[in-house]
Amino acid sequence: WERPDGRPTRQRLLVVANRLPVSAVRRGEESWSLEISGGGLVSALLGVKEFEARWIGWAGVNVPDEAGQRALTKALAEKRCIPVFLDEEIVHQYYNGYCNNILWPLFHYLGLPQEDRLATTRSFQSQFAAYKKANQMFADVVTEHYEEGDVVWCHDYHLMFLPKCLKEYNSQMKVGWFLHTPFPSSEIHRTLPSRSELLRAVLAADLVGFHTYDYARHFVSACTRILGLEGTPEGVEDQGRLTRVAAFPIGIDSERFIRALEVPQVQEHIKELKDRFAGRKVMLGVDRLDMIKGIPQKILAFEKFLEENPYWRDKVVLLQIAVPTRTDVPEYQKLTSQVHEIVGRINGRFGTLTAVPIHHLDRSLDFHALCALYAVTDVALVTSLRDGMNLVSYEFVACQESKKGVLILSEFAGAAQSLGAGAILVNPWNITEVAASIGQALNMSAEEREKRHRHNFLHVTTHTAQEWAETFVSELNDTVIEAQQRIRK
Ligand code: G6P
Repeated sequence: WERPDGRPTRQRLLVVANRLPVSAVRRGEESWSLEISGGGLVSALLGVKEFEARWIGWAGVNVPDEAGQRALTKALAEKRCIPVFLDEEIVHQYYNGYCNNILWPLFHYLGLPQEDRLATTRSFQSQFAAYKKANQMFADVVTEHYEEGDVVWCHDYHLMFLPKCLKEYNSQMKVGWFLHTPFPSSEIHRTLPSRSELLRAVLAADLVGFHTYDYARHFVSACTRILGLEGTPEGVEDQGRLTRVAAFPIGIDSERFIRALEVPQVQEHIKELKDRFAGRKVMLGVDRLDMIKGIPQKILAFEKFLEENPYWRDKVVLLQIAVPTRTDVPEYQKLTSQVHEIVGRINGRFGTLTAVPIHHLDRSLDFHALCALYAVTDVALVTSLRDGMNLVSYEFVACQESKKGVLILSEFAGAAQSLGAGAILVNPWNITEVAASIGQALNMSAEEREKRHRHNFLHVTTHTAQEWAETFVSELNDTVIEAQQRIRK
């Protein structure tokens, strides 16, 4: 890649995601404070030296006035971030509505909302219209900042319409789209009223990526069955044009976690936690407070374990970190009360005057506190009902070099395909099975734990987030070159 002055430069990558990797808090009319949030995508892209990434996304706040928008745009520019401003009504219809009340549950096999049919149809139509409108607003910001040669990488279920909007603007633009959730069986996708329009919009991309081979296969089948297109080993073909479809399993920046364990503050915290829970085995759950994470089922399995194993009642504690999310969506509000109710009942049943079996926290922890917690954990419970990948399982493994604890992992998380040989795999819907796996994990011999940990640690440290991002972008570049060659022939 050449700059106008002839010097080589790194390829520019425009990363487009619903949310920017910063949270913005307004301090005054024209003053903002920004905090970088350290999600998987951020560390993946920070670690890649081959390209220069810029982010385009919603800042997560409503900024109705121009002065505020100007000031925020300026502050974000220093972090290489470009905001898309969405008003409250659009956020309500597009983000709370179509994205999180329709697509998210559907893609995780929880089906479409079951309200009164007529009302659903009416709100469905307006939410879908808002979804398309929001995607067009993202496209407008991308095209404003696009320069020839840039790679545009669209992320997740919020932006399925974006590839189409971008290609309509410039058919030469290199566009990739990656889904961070599962893509469900075509039989599930078929139930969505806008099933065809969404598939066609995604197919406008040059490369479409998923976490696992199964999700990619489901997507290709949906295109075959719903749109009648031809599925090939490379992807989906429509009138001679190929959209490449492939699996790119994400990873984490494992070094960041391993290094954190050496930080004095983290070591201090590890010591405190060890003292606090001395004589008890520590079990850990870290999840966003979301239906797909199977938190009630997990807690009920823990209750069953305590019920059947009186010996363990005062020798084990479950620490459940449940990070609040999408709190404006009614389903999420119901879930919060449900979890509180179950935790209260179990603590009442098995607690003593000095100890409770479950410590439940409705909040996130900072990075260092989280690493300390991972390091002192004996058994991690990742029992999502469905999950695109689930990187908590990876983070736990990265922090377990000294403890070599056990990972209980849902077979319905994408991570089961990579960490399955080292974890105890469970069906999270089967509470009896999960309860039995808790017993198996707590009683596992040190040799067995070591063997399982070695397998997982090797995987987590060699399949990193950086490698994931590099592979996707280089595959996207290759796909476009091959397509051009095909046209020339
Ligand atoms: C999932 C999605 C992400 C999303 C995250 C947090 O991991 O795949 O795209 O950003 O959840 O959800 P939120 O709605 O708070 O952005």
